[in-house]
Amino acid sequence: MKNEQVIYDHKFDLHSINKFASLMTLGNGYLGLRAAFDEDYFEQIRGMYVAGIYNKASENEPSDLVNLPDLAGIRIEIDHEIFSMLNGKILSYERYLNLVTGELRRELLWENRGGARFSFVFQRFVAKNNLHVLASKVTVTSLDNTASIKIVTGINAQQTNFGKQHLIEEKVRVFDEEVMQGVYKTTESGHTIALATSCKCPAESEIAFVAKNRQLQTIIKDKLNVNHPFVFEKLGTVFTSLDQGEAGIDPEAASINELQVISAYGYDALLEMSALNWQEFWQQKRIQISSTDQFDQTAMDFALYHLEIMTPAHDERFSVGAKGLTGEGYKGHVFWDTEIFIKPFHLYTEPETAKKLLIYRYLHLQQAKEKAARNGYEGALFPWESAFSGEEETPEFAAINIRTGKRQKVASALAEHHIVADIAYAVVQYYQTTLDEEFMKKEGLALLKDTARFWISRAVDENGQLSIKDVIGPDEYTEHIDNNAYTNYMAYYNVDQALYFMEQYGEVDEVLQKQGRAFLTQLYLPKPNEQLIIPQDDTFLNKPEIDLSRYKENQGSQGILLDYSRAEVNEMQILKQADVVMLMYLFPELFEADVVLKNLSYYEEHTIHDSSLSKAIHAIVAARCNDSNSAYRFFQEACLIDLGPNPHSSDEGLHAASLGAIWLTTMFGFANISLKNNRLRLDPKLPGNWSELKFRLTIHGCQIEILMTHENVVASKCLGPDLLLEINGTEFLLTDRIEVTL
Ligand code: BGC
Repeated sequence: MKNEQVIYDHKFDLHSINKFASLMTLGNGYLGLRAAFDEDYFEQIRGMYVAGIYNKASENEPSDLVNLPDLAGIRIEIDHEIFSMLNGKILSYERYLNLVTGELRRELLWENRGGARFSFVFQRFVAKNNLHVLASKVTVTSLDNTASIKIVTGINAQQTNFGKQHLIEEKVRVFDEEVMQGVYKTTESGHTIALATSCKCPAESEIAFVAKNRQLQTIIKDKLNVNHPFVFEKLGTVFTSLDQGEAGIDPEAASINELQVISAYGYDALLEMSALNWQEFWQQKRIQISSTDQFDQTAMDFALYHLEIMTPAHDERFSVGAKGLTGEGYKGHVFWDTEIFIKPFHLYTEPETAKKLLIYRYLHLQQAKEKAARNGYEGALFPWESAFSGEEETPEFAAINIRTGKRQKVASALAEHHIVADIAYAVVQYYQTTLDEEFMKKEGLALLKDTARFWISRAVDENGQLSIKDVIGPDEYTEHIDNNAYTNYMAYYNVDQALYFMEQYGEVDEVLQKQGRAFLTQLYLPKPNEQLIIPQDDTFLNKPEIDLSRYKENQGSQGILLDYSRAEVNEMQILKQADVVMLMYLFPELFEADVVLKNLSYYEEHTIHDSSLSKAIHAIVAARCNDSNSAYRFFQEACLIDLGPNPHSSDEGLHAASLGAIWLTTMFGFANISLKNNRLRLDPKLPGNWSELKFRLTIHGCQIEILMTHENVVASKCLGPDLLLEINGTEFLLTDRIEVTL
């Protein structure tokens, strides 16, 4: 089998066991299930997470996205030998995640220690059409001898977040000698989680149940006859006290009721229903790339699959964590990654979902205002990292230095304030793409005003000029600096847009408007110097430079921090990730082409790309500068962040923002779309080895399909109102179909 919409794992390798567990995560935005193997391996990290279910292990710790009791583990014994790919021999092995159906499958031919062969097919999916459902199926066939089989599985609440236990076991029960149920409560946040599961096996199987040490298990015993497949199915449901129902859902009852409903269907029928939902998704949202390198299409499909399953589109009280629901990295916290890297995909394909992500921020305006007040500012200072409560969740300290026993303070919560303007930018981008007046008048304007108030209070007057001092820009290797160009320009835009929309909606707040106007005239905006370089901050360009090539070879590893302390890195011209280049990406028209080109080249030379948020942004800016080769190289390197050969790159979860950025690069770099004066502009910059690019977008309620080649652009309206287009400098009203030769 070879299909471009499939992610393969061709060889069982313990080294990459956790990377593949992240890559092949199943999910639906409500829950995420890591692709840990059914059987246990010492190195393996299992994980099942529900969006919004966080808990603090102790009072002074940040919240963790709770690793829930496991439903996926299955222990198999054949002739009393515990099945493991480390015992006996693997005669053939293939595991693949089919992105079209959302099913994970492993096919295995295994020889036990006694030399008898068994074929295994393991299947698993998380339903896309029913947020609470997951299912697995195991088919075992003995190929040589009659053998005994024993299966042990159930609900295992021994799961922890790297050793931290977040759940109290409240109830475990078996109903009707069939259904197992566990009900748990998070220790601090007080959420209830109810899981129910039942197994289907041949009628003659012997079945027993046991509960011990936070495990509720069924034990199934049977006989394997030669060439007679033994089929075992396990269905599960997950409900929590955060679920929204008409009268509030009782998770305990709901988990049992839903299990009863789905049991009538069984694995295959449930999979079919879920797969239909995936097919609709691909029909609407797939980006088709005709490239000489098939990897480009695979990486794009992989990114879209994960963007879909990482996003809690069902509930505006939650947002997307930096690792989605694929692992415990960054404790499941939400960063600027969501607004700037992930939200645009939804905005242009499913605007309602983008709106919900912004409402998540709106719902936490109060906490952001309190954080601002605590820090002596006005308006709203959103947390650098957030979870369910909207409070600041950034850990106070980074990893311990085991030589000195000292912990390095994490400065982001205190100084990485650009997130405030990133949210405001996302609000305006949402409006420009949807023209959603209702949102803008209420939630949008409230967000813009309070974020603007923050910047006004954050700036300080220095001889009649306003500075924004002691910040961290996107480049986290440069801390506590003054007038970070990215931050200042973003703050300017934030205040400017707040004033603009206040005027649009006739909102009067004389103090804010007066202060805002003064802020706009006085704020210092770093301009290109004689060499056309925009200083990243007040001191950056005066710092010494070092040769970064050996660190760039190992980008993503933060290897520089092994050779230099953070304080030393801070005093050199070293960037972790795009900073001025990030500014150029977000404001393509702010600077002249020669300035963009010079800055791209200057800052890239000084950037290690130790953050996964960096490469794709360079790709976009390079594409717009007509540097097609660099753009394509950066794009492919960005695609390798999770899909590359490093066996540990994604152990703790995928890089959600970088997956979003694969979509960003294709749209804002290669297709080079932009919105100006209510027109969709297309100025394609396709890489040389892409012959065709096809995609659908929703803009101002109009869904269009675009087909681009190096020679022409065809735009067709699928549904909704007509749309103004500008292709290659010429304007059109798209009523049906337009073909333009480039
Ligand atoms: C990056 C941040 C990012 C965070 C979460 C850090 O390494 O520097 O920009 O928000 O990871 O992805």
